[in-house]
Amino acid sequence: MSTSAAPVDPVEQSKKLCAYAAVQDNLKPHHRIIGIGSGSTVVYVAECIGKMPNKAEFVCVPTGFQSKQLIIDNKIQLGGLEENPTIDIAFDGADEIDSGLNCIKGGGACLLQEKLVADSSENFIIVADDRKNTGVLGKGWKKGIPIEVIPNAYNKIIKELTALGGAPKVRPGAPAKAGPVITDNGNFIIDCDFGEIPAAKVADLNSKIKAMVGVVETGLFVGMAQKAYIGNADGTVTTLT
Ligand code: 5RP
Repeated sequence: MSTSAAPVDPVEQSKKLCAYAAVQDNLKPHHRIIGIGSGSTVVYVAECIGKMPNKAEFVCVPTGFQSKQLIIDNKIQLGGLEENPTIDIAFDGADEIDSGLNCIKGGGACLLQEKLVADSSENFIIVADDRKNTGVLGKGWKKGIPIEVIPNAYNKIIKELTALGGAPKVRPGAPAKAGPVITDNGNFIIDCDFGEIPAAKVADLNSKIKAMVGVVETGLFVGMAQKAYIGNADGTVTTLT
């Protein structure tokens, strides 16, 4: 009988390392209300908080169905943004991070609730494995910027995004023949590729997309994160500020 442990997936390991480091470095004794983002990296944020001896002192605000389930599974108190409009600290993943800590988010279609929680948070911390740390948005993440739109506006917005120089596509659901993906807020997602976006141009692009009538929110998180914890393949964690 073999006694060797199951092999550790290095990407999974780096997600866990950065998530634990982010929580341990940033969660302070006075913090009570915590925002929990979405995706596979924040799984370890919830796990880390769930193991804390004082976890009963925290109320966690989710950013979607998966995130709500994570809070419940880790036996942490669940709260809503309605009764907790000021969040002490929020942790979330990212699809890509640039040198100015701007992010692309929304790979999991949760960008609106994620941005609401980030915007309500006094401290917003990103956790990601090193594949996301490319320095320039659009360099590694080739699926485009996720944009949440009102369903019947999708063709109008596709026209406007194309005129702006993007290559937009409505995100299909699963299975694709069932129609577009529907967000937790009942909207569609358009993924729009703009190629590489220099850090200096991210804010302007975000404003132009947000100004389109029918756009609910964009997956460009401009200047919202104070820090990013990057889990590296060699088992180290890099902190970006
Ligand atoms: C979901 C998100 C996620 O945070 C993002 O997709 C990163 O996920 P992961 O940690 O699985 O790489 O924005 O809308």
